[in-house]
Amino acid sequence: MATSCYQWFLWTATILLIAVVSQGQLTTDFYDSTCPQAATIVKQKVDEIVDADKGMAAGLMRLHFHDCFVRGCDGSVLLNSTNTTLAEKEALINNGSLRGFEHIDDIKMDLECSCPGVVSCADILAMVARDATVKLGGLSWPVFLGRIDGASSVADEVNSSLPFRTYNFSQLVATFAKVGLDTKDMIVLSGGHSIGQLHCGAFFERLWDFQGQNITDPSMDPEFAESLKAQCPRDNPLLFKGADSTNATFDAVYYSDLLTHKGLMDSDVALMSDPLGVEYAIKAVQDPYYFLFEFGMAMINMGNIPASDPYGWRKNCAVIEPCNN
Ligand code: HEM
Ligand SMILES: *[C@@H]1O[C@H](CO)[C@@H](O)[C@H](O)[C@H]1NC(C)=O
Ligand SMILES: *[C@@H]1O[C@H](CO)[C@@H](O)[C@H](O)[C@H]1NC(C)=O
Ligand SMILES: *[C@@H]1O[C@H](CO)[C@@H](O)[C@H](O)[C@H]1NC(C)=O
Ligand SMILES: *[C@@H]1O[C@H](CO)[C@@H](O)[C@H](O)[C@H]1NC(C)=O
Ligand SMILES: *[C@@H]1O[C@H](CO)[C@@H](O)[C@H](O)[C@H]1NC(C)=O
Ligand SMILES: *[C@@H]1O[C@H](CO)[C@@H](O)[C@H](O)[C@H]1NC(C)=O
Ligand SMILES: *[C@@H]1O[C@H](CO)[C@@H](O)[C@H](O)[C@H]1NC(C)=O
Repeated sequence: MATSCYQWFLWTATILLIAVVSQGQLTTDFYDSTCPQAATIVKQKVDEIVDADKGMAAGLMRLHFHDCFVRGCDGSVLLNSTNTTLAEKEALINNGSLRGFEHIDDIKMDLECSCPGVVSCADILAMVARDATVKLGGLSWPVFLGRIDGASSVADEVNSSLPFRTYNFSQLVATFAKVGLDTKDMIVLSGGHSIGQLHCGAFFERLWDFQGQNITDPSMDPEFAESLKAQCPRDNPLLFKGADSTNATFDAVYYSDLLTHKGLMDSDVALMSDPLGVEYAIKAVQDPYYFLFEFGMAMINMGNIPASDPYGWRKNCAVIEPCNN
């Protein structure tokens, strides 16, 4: 199918489908009367940010994922720690790894100038994730809006909500199931690793200490393993490596890397341990638009994870103000 057909199908089919299927909370036209320029402002900003730093597209897209898996899509990932509570962003998995917070604050400030008191931080993350993905070559999808921000962010909740890089297939399935996403969603959303960078430490054991044996994972393509070891010496886990072999383009190469034993993290490689993962990777490689299309659908599903404790609207995405209206 040509890209334009997929594009057309994505917009019409999902708008019809989701109007029926989802609990009718989020809508694509949520800000049409209160802030009609919201989507345009966000897109212009994301274009500028990514033009200046391509890698930031990955950081921005990942924020929506880390937001939605903890307390639902409620902007909780953006909150700073308080005197009494360490925030999600300072949890071990996130601290020094999540990026782009300053850009979200910047976008929020623009939106507050244009339409004060209207657009939620969680909705900004959803719009930004779509625009960042499209900017690096993804197909667009309709972003459903109307999320309500939460008031708390708790670092201790992160470990039990987000998947670890060491997870196997069944652990990944279980983590996604907890937020209502199925195996297919998990396989497709893992394709988020088509862009951006990983610390070498994120796959240290596979390269240098497989199963505690001081060897390289024998399932890794040997030539690939050699070049990877040159880029990721064992004494420097803080260096960066592209998340796939074409990390500046959002494409299906993540899956062809997996099929040719050039995956990086345990959680990536784990997709190939299950027939569903293998089957999906083969399809994604045969018809790249199929993946680009399905990624949008899966992002809509992820963006529908309901906030467990919705609170209201925040002026500054990083703090709860004492008197909020
Ligand atoms: C399936 C389970 C997943 C696991 C275990 C996982 C884990 C990780 C880890 C460990 C990193 C590297 C962090 C670092 O080295 O600093 C990373 C990076 C990244 N992840 Fe995931 N992730 C998963 C799913 C996802 C999903 C669903 C998305 C988005 C839809 C996503 C998007 C990204 C992006 C874009 C990056 C690169 C970020 C950057 O360049 O700043 N990941 N992930
Ligand atoms: C939130 O924390 C960041 C980083 O520590 C800081 O730069 C920013 O000013 C804080 N935001 C607010 C509103 O306190
Ligand atoms: C947090 O701590 C700072 C410095 O100790 C203090 O000035 C501030 O009043 C505290 N904030 C709250 C809400 O307790
Ligand atoms: C998170 O990282 C910052 C900057 O590197 C550091 O100052 C802070 O102590 C870290 N937080 C935790 C909880 O480790
Ligand atoms: C989260 O998991 C990491 C890695 O296993 C561990 O080092 C850390 O202590 C855990 N944090 C909390 C708050 O449980
Ligand atoms: C995944 O890991 C869990 C926990 O270690 C284990 O119980 C399970 O059998 C593993 N699943 C697969 C498919 O290897
Ligand atoms: C691990 O292997 C390297 C050579 O590949 C060797 O230099 C090193 O001493 C070994 N470390 C341990 C703990 O066995
Ligand atoms: C691709 O990965 C490299 C590290 O190998 C990193 O420096 C670069 O910023 C990444 N590019 C993008 C667009 O994420």
